[in-house]
Amino acid sequence: MSKKKFLHRILLSKKRKNIYPLLDHGLSRKDLNEGIKVLKSGRITMGQKTQNFENKFKNFLGSKYALMVNSGSSANLLATFASCNPMRKKKFKRGDEAIIQSLCWPTSLWPLVQCGLKIKFVDVNPKTLNVNADNLIKSISRKTKVILIINVLGLSTEIKKIRDFCNKKNIILIEDNCESLGTKYGRKFLGTFGDFGTFSFFYSHQITSGEGGMIVCKDKKDYEILKSLRSHGWSREKKTAIKYPYLDPRYIFVNSGFNLRPTDIQASIGLSQFKKLKKFMKIRISNRNKIIKSLKMHKNWSDQFSFLEVPKKISPSYMVFPIFLNKKFRKKKTQFINYIESRGLETRPIISGSFVKQPSSKLFKLNPRKTKFPGADIVQELGFVIGLHTKNISSSKLKFLSETLLSIDSL
Ligand SMILES: Cc1ncc(COP(=O)(O)O)c(C=O)c1O
Repeated sequence: MSKKKFLHRILLSKKRKNIYPLLDHGLSRKDLNEGIKVLKSGRITMGQKTQNFENKFKNFLGSKYALMVNSGSSANLLATFASCNPMRKKKFKRGDEAIIQSLCWPTSLWPLVQCGLKIKFVDVNPKTLNVNADNLIKSISRKTKVILIINVLGLSTEIKKIRDFCNKKNIILIEDNCESLGTKYGRKFLGTFGDFGTFSFFYSHQITSGEGGMIVCKDKKDYEILKSLRSHGWSREKKTAIKYPYLDPRYIFVNSGFNLRPTDIQASIGLSQFKKLKKFMKIRISNRNKIIKSLKMHKNWSDQFSFLEVPKKISPSYMVFPIFLNKKFRKKKTQFINYIESRGLETRPIISGSFVKQPSSKLFKLNPRKTKFPGADIVQELGFVIGLHTKNISSSKLKFLSETLLSIDSL
């Protein structure tokens, strides 16, 4: 089938009702009512609800500080810009090197580029989707000043090893945990290992506020930097007003800045969802096990697919269900995805695939030596995701999934 026809089919399938969509209705009436209450109060902008959510979030994670923003991308932007802020002691400068995995999300990467860092990509292990800690450590050079680790789709790597190495070498570690809220490495939540940890509450993530994000950190100074960068470079602290008695205390701008504030509508929906995180995590793990079991017990099962391996010490919290085709089906992938989409099984690629293959990466010449990333290539060529819902999966849905997926043999 030609690419044009394939795209046409995909667009058509959007109009068709999905039998097994990527997302179920994770937002309950109660979640939405919390948002409506804020709307009706007339106090929509960032306020008490946002602070309540931040407090609950940091207490749950065992992190010292948490700051809500309007998206996970904004959390990454803040973490990176805070890491080179003149107010910070340990900071990188333009021209320094940043390491990030080749299987990444654009807005994990772009803030590093926007801050003038030179990008060094490292490959991922296609069995876990995450970097191998020893390989990453081997790729560190004297120029490396920042490492941005993405904890991909509920899993991670030996993050403690990387954190300890970064501490020893004075390297800034940013943990993009947008896809792994609730996952633990050992007894500690992911997102709390790095200097900064970022989270997304976009619709498809572990919990949602529609749009929204959070950033956590351990250091008070970092928190103050993040807070002023989030909001125009503002400071409304009493101590600032005392320091600058000749300025109107309501309008003192102590730093550069953005406007990345969330609304209290998002915060109240996010907080309502957050109360159900543990329940969602449990159901998703159970649904995942049921889907794998139902596929493997099917009479037509013959290793057509494989699934993620959970690395040691990781207790995962999932948002979607990644599936890998057996490599003998490599050439059939487009046809297969097209077919299952047409049957009402919604899919997505795994993150952005190998990011060096994206046109934007070429536009900014991010991989001038044309280094190969075979792990990320395998993920792109053989992997895709389907939904992992927050309600217990029914036996009719399990049957639908097994039969639709296993139809690969007859294509
Ligand atoms: C790894 C990763 N980082 C960052 C983001 C951006 O989050 P948001 O969509 O909330 O901006 C995403 C979004 O899916 C992501 O997967």
